[in-house]
Amino acid sequence: MTNKVESRNILVALAWPYANGSLHLGHTASFIGSDVLARYHRLKGDLVLFVSGSDCYGTPVVLEAMAQNTSPSSIAEKYHAEFCSTFDALSFSFDWYTKTTVPEHHAVVQHVFSQLRDKKYVYSKVGKALYSPALQRFLPDRFVEGGCPHCGFDDARGDQCDQCGKLIDSLDLHNPRIHKKVFQTDSDADRSLEVRDSEHFYLSLSAFQHDLEKWVASVGDSWRPNAFRFTEGFLAQGLQDRAISRDTDWGVPIPVSGYDDKRLYVWFEAVLGYLSSSQHYMKNRGTPDDWKQWWENPDAVHYYVHGKDNVPFHSIILPATLMGAGGYHLPDMIFSSEYLSLEGEQFSTSRSHAVWVPDFLAHFDSELLRYFMVMHGPETSDVDFRWVDFGTLVNGELIGTFGNLVHRVFTFVRSNFPDGISFDSNNLDTTSKHLLHVAENVFQKIGVCIEHGRFRQGFREILAVAEQLNRFVHTREPWKHLDDTVRVHTDLSVLLHVIHALSLTIQPFLPKTSEKIQVSLGASSPILSASDSSFQRSVWCCPPVPKSFTVATAEPLFVKIDDSVIAEQEGRL
Ligand code: MF3
Ligand code: ZN
Repeated sequence: MTNKVESRNILVALAWPYANGSLHLGHTASFIGSDVLARYHRLKGDLVLFVSGSDCYGTPVVLEAMAQNTSPSSIAEKYHAEFCSTFDALSFSFDWYTKTTVPEHHAVVQHVFSQLRDKKYVYSKVGKALYSPALQRFLPDRFVEGGCPHCGFDDARGDQCDQCGKLIDSLDLHNPRIHKKVFQTDSDADRSLEVRDSEHFYLSLSAFQHDLEKWVASVGDSWRPNAFRFTEGFLAQGLQDRAISRDTDWGVPIPVSGYDDKRLYVWFEAVLGYLSSSQHYMKNRGTPDDWKQWWENPDAVHYYVHGKDNVPFHSIILPATLMGAGGYHLPDMIFSSEYLSLEGEQFSTSRSHAVWVPDFLAHFDSELLRYFMVMHGPETSDVDFRWVDFGTLVNGELIGTFGNLVHRVFTFVRSNFPDGISFDSNNLDTTSKHLLHVAENVFQKIGVCIEHGRFRQGFREILAVAEQLNRFVHTREPWKHLDDTVRVHTDLSVLLHVIHALSLTIQPFLPKTSEKIQVSLGASSPILSASDSSFQRSVWCCPPVPKSFTVATAEPLFVKIDDSVIAEQEGRL
């Protein structure tokens, strides 16, 4: 059954990962919700635009290039290509995944910069910057480390503190010094920095203090609490204007003559990637003005999905920039996840304490990772990833509650009723009617969860229905009643129908599993392709019970994880 719906324009904006290293489990933990949202809204009949890309500029990429003795652009290209295949392997259904080095991005960023400059929200002034006498150059952001001025943490990066998450102006660092990767030396004197004059462009954040406060008060309660609290605290301290240019040659050029040796600050340009990629996608699609239906339409809904260290850029810098340029839709929902640690310690690339997604996918089905990060990821509190939990929960919960149920029912029907079973609604008893009712209602329940960023609760609803089906199998014992044709046909019809319903609701979370179940049932429910944004009917609802069922195949949905496989992974750390 399909319902005509009022389609809404939905933007799903996933944070752009820095192209300076492989994606690790922590990334998937904060990213997975974006694909759930995009897939769900497509099924609901909305017009979805799901965008992201690789964040190629800034000191993170240059530092990695130095470490690998190559150019920033070759590092960015290498990881961009890897991200594309990793996202593919994870079944992410982007409409457009691009990178910040494309001319289309530069053009939009430079246009917005010029708009802000015309309106005096961006101005140049001679300010202070950290200068290295040893290297004879200015050192921005992560080229510098030192003590956090907010919490005292000793090894804060020059742009943000890993411990308290606050933004840092590198000039405020205690005892600032050159980052080890930039300059390998044993001499403390060589790593020391001095403050010198340097001319830069500033974004007048202070001009938006009042408008941002009003806006946050009106929308902030639909954000994750971490985003709301952080932003409120940030605003309460009073906004300071921030430099949005840097002394570097790796970045988007500044569209003003005389600034050839400087570039735009990576965060200022990267957050505009959501806008530039929307425009780029529409141009490529042959409908170059359609981006406005997402960006100049007050009825559109914009979801932003990222980790909590990204909050101020999406809740302050991006909205201020969009307000300043004028006329753009501001973020609606901000779903910022908490941190994932690994076996009790922070992920660390340098100490190689990490699980890289490409490695993970060489050993395990991507559906297991999607399941695990939805159900047991850091949605609302920090979570420690432990291999043994992964093994236990995949086997016990995903396979034990859901996978085995489907496999058991399919196998039973196939071996006993190869020609199928038939359904007559007159034979339903109270319990069966109740189950059909549960299947009807679960769509709405899960939809509400997803729209509010409560992905775990959404998936729990599916598992709860699966548990009810397990009890039904257990009490009805169809294998004992093969001669009672009416009874066994009715019970199996109920099971197959509710399993079919679950296969639809599980589609945003586990798209490959959903498809497997539907293939077994010979059901051709629309698996919507990412670019099929013209779809305008809702299939997010329970279909009617058909008159008959056949089970075409009965393969296990998942492979159980052996203890030895988990032990091997633990050993690799
Ligand atoms: N590259 C940043 C990070 O990995 C995220 C950038 S999000 C964007 O933390 F919107 F600015 F692109
Ligand atoms: Zn700090």
